[in-house]
Amino acid sequence: MPDENRTFQRAGMTIRVFSDAGAASRAAADLIAEAIRGAKPDRRAVLGLATGSTPQKVYAHLAAWHAAGELSFRDVVTYNLDEYYPIQPLDPKSYRCYMHRHLFSLVDLSPQAAHILDGTVPEPFVADHCAEFERWIAADGGLDVQLLGIGRNGHIGFNEPSELPVEEALALPTRLVELHPVTRADAVREFGGADKVIPRALTMGVKTILSAGSILMLATGAHKADAVAAALNGDPRSGLPASLLQTAGGKVTWLVDELAASLIS
Ligand code: GLP
Repeated sequence: MPDENRTFQRAGMTIRVFSDAGAASRAAADLIAEAIRGAKPDRRAVLGLATGSTPQKVYAHLAAWHAAGELSFRDVVTYNLDEYYPIQPLDPKSYRCYMHRHLFSLVDLSPQAAHILDGTVPEPFVADHCAEFERWIAADGGLDVQLLGIGRNGHIGFNEPSELPVEEALALPTRLVELHPVTRADAVREFGGADKVIPRALTMGVKTILSAGSILMLATGAHKADAVAAALNGDPRSGLPASLLQTAGGKVTWLVDELAASLIS
């Protein structure tokens, strides 16, 4: 049992605070493994997955359990939140490549069951591709569990802060977006230079994310404390996309470490 310090409710959501990032990640991995093992016999577990540095430890746990013969992905289908655009899948900076490195190559997930938005689709066909991605999710019965991280500017997936009315922000579909300056600055690490960051991406929409059966938001480290506090305090607003999770209430669980929780009031 991971080292859990406290649990409380905020806007109908459950907030679980752990001693450190390792414990929070372990809790996320436990919940994902539970979703896999708990899938009905006639239905594959449908997982929504995230990238970034935060979920790497989650994938390490899942891969280790698979290696130990304790967890199989044979009856799992996955959908990733986002992908840079345009990008080739073999580019080491693509999220497809990330997923192969951290999970897909380490477990028995069928290649046909691993869905990632395609950064090679020619631009005139992008809207169709995004709509098709949503139809595939629906045809698989919808996402059972969606793992999320949070950007320093409060983004989820690549749904960036905007000035849209809340109802419109909640209805955002899967689409091509421009990255926010904070997101581009944070991506300099991965890309090795500000001029090398790919400034656009494909992202699962807010509507699609919020329609998942359960949503796990994993946030660790002091650099996430401002965004976490802003998402939990105040009303849901498009200027801080993670605050929109409040509208999904009971199905949202925040798994945070003490550093990320330090500014919650
Ligand atoms: C990227 C991803 C997000 C992720 C965020 C946080 O922008 N598109 O899905 O949540 O980064 O990344 P990190 O976990 O590295 O802080």
